[in-house]
Amino acid sequence: MSLTEKIAELLAEAERAIAAAASAEALEALRVRYLGRKEGRLTAILRELAAVPAEERPAAGEAANRAKNRIAALLEEAAGRLAAPARAEAAVDRTLPGRRAWRGARHPVTQVIDEICTVLARLGFTRARGPEVETDWYNFVALNTPLDHPAADMHDTFYIGRGLLLRSHTSPVQIRTMQQYRPPIRILVPGMCYRRDAFDASHAPAFEQLEGLAVDEGISFVDLKATLAEFARGLFGSDIRVRFRPSFFPFTEPSAEVDVTCIICRGAGCRVCKGTGWIEIMGAGMVDPAVLETVGYDAERYTGFAFGMGPGRIAMVRYGIPDMRLLYEADHRFLEQFA
Ligand code: PHE
Repeated sequence: MSLTEKIAELLAEAERAIAAAASAEALEALRVRYLGRKEGRLTAILRELAAVPAEERPAAGEAANRAKNRIAALLEEAAGRLAAPARAEAAVDRTLPGRRAWRGARHPVTQVIDEICTVLARLGFTRARGPEVETDWYNFVALNTPLDHPAADMHDTFYIGRGLLLRSHTSPVQIRTMQQYRPPIRILVPGMCYRRDAFDASHAPAFEQLEGLAVDEGISFVDLKATLAEFARGLFGSDIRVRFRPSFFPFTEPSAEVDVTCIICRGAGCRVCKGTGWIEIMGAGMVDPAVLETVGYDAERYTGFAFGMGPGRIAMVRYGIPDMRLLYEADHRFLEQFA
């Protein structure tokens, strides 16, 4: 068999083998087998070229070169054929679960605030807002709290300059609203408040309050009780009752601490209510006439009631949240439960 014939036979064999190769590894093995520098079959043939009679050598050499190029081209083509479907599969893996779009949600405290506002909107309460940086006049003095009262002390409050502080409650918005509007007034004031409290399981130095204020002719303690009873039923259920205990706030007279039936045990007594069947939920009272006079209202003609609560505490009881810090750490693993 002449060298040219040997080359043709080798080429035919290589073509069949490459066409049958099923993987990149198999192709690499074929490349080594036919074109490898040391053991390759074609390389071996080229070595035989020296022994070929001079007149046959050019034709044989050319045939060998063509076979080499052809085999290299076939290997490359086969590599492309084998890689293409693999690449397509990697790009679209139909067995993967779909990507879920991130859905934002209202914070649990915001949810409680919105619910309370919805319940009391039925009684005509609308939302009002006020600044978080207040003067000590709005935060204390106008609310019948002299500046030498302990609550106004630097140790209890974040003063940020002379006479300026981060409001320690939402009550200053009572004053701002009454200065701006004449009665009848029925407002709810949600917002952040600031106190120099520890950041622990039951305190946060920045927390929400929800304030209520109603001022009109003929408003009495009965209206306060009825409003808060409606609030408790509307928010927690028709079996929930309210009870009032005497208390003191400088800007209300009389003042009360308001409890509602424990929303966990429905009054039977449990760990949350420490066996009493009641949970303390807010401070409240009739607006002190001194406050009405401060904003220029006729205290003989108008009366009013006010209340203030912590929606964060309500969210904790309602959702069984054991630590207040969870409300403010913005950990989405926690927050996602309320989405
Ligand atoms: N402002 C009071 C507080 O922060 C709560 C309160 C509001 C009490 C309105 C009575 C009336 O503790």
